[in-house]
Amino acid sequence: MKDIALIGFMGCGKSSVGKLLVDRLPGYELIDLDDFIENVTCRSIPDIFREDGEKGFRDLEVAALDSIFMIDGDLGRKCILSLGGGTVTTASCRQMLRENATCIYLKASVDTLEKNLLESPGDRPMLRTGQPIRERIMELMEKRSGIYEECADITVILEGKTYGQVADEIAALCLDGVKD
Ligand code: S3P
Repeated sequence: MKDIALIGFMGCGKSSVGKLLVDRLPGYELIDLDDFIENVTCRSIPDIFREDGEKGFRDLEVAALDSIFMIDGDLGRKCILSLGGGTVTTASCRQMLRENATCIYLKASVDTLEKNLLESPGDRPMLRTGQPIRERIMELMEKRSGIYEECADITVILEGKTYGQVADEIAALCLDGVKD
């Protein structure tokens, strides 16, 4: 049984949907990759970017996924993984995900991403460029949307749905066995 990986741009709701999904899928554990990295390194994501740069952070994502999938194999554990918005930009992460997870792309419009990120900006180093948020979303999405599409085993459109409805939709697909 493969893990379930939630992929998509910053602000699409991966962490929120993950928390709701884990209640709907018995036997799965939830791992938020950013939280995992922060716990293992005892540093915040912004500190890692500040001290090691984006490349340093991407290397930590690779190491984190590698150890999560290894532990899954050892323990026979099944996980729902809320990934970072840029995890799939690294080829070795994509390779590990192909082998170990069903990737669910939470697809949101630029309007929705902008609204969510303005409401809950968090501390996101990739957005700290001084550009207007919409411009930055469009710039990154131009590079990333093809990658999200390519990685996706399942795409869930978020428009007009609550996170609860999205979690219901994913749980129904998983419980139907579509993920296998
Ligand atoms: C990033 C997204 C963030 C976090 C890091 C880099 C990105 O996660 O992993 O700041 O490159 O898109 P969220 O998608 O949960 O904000």
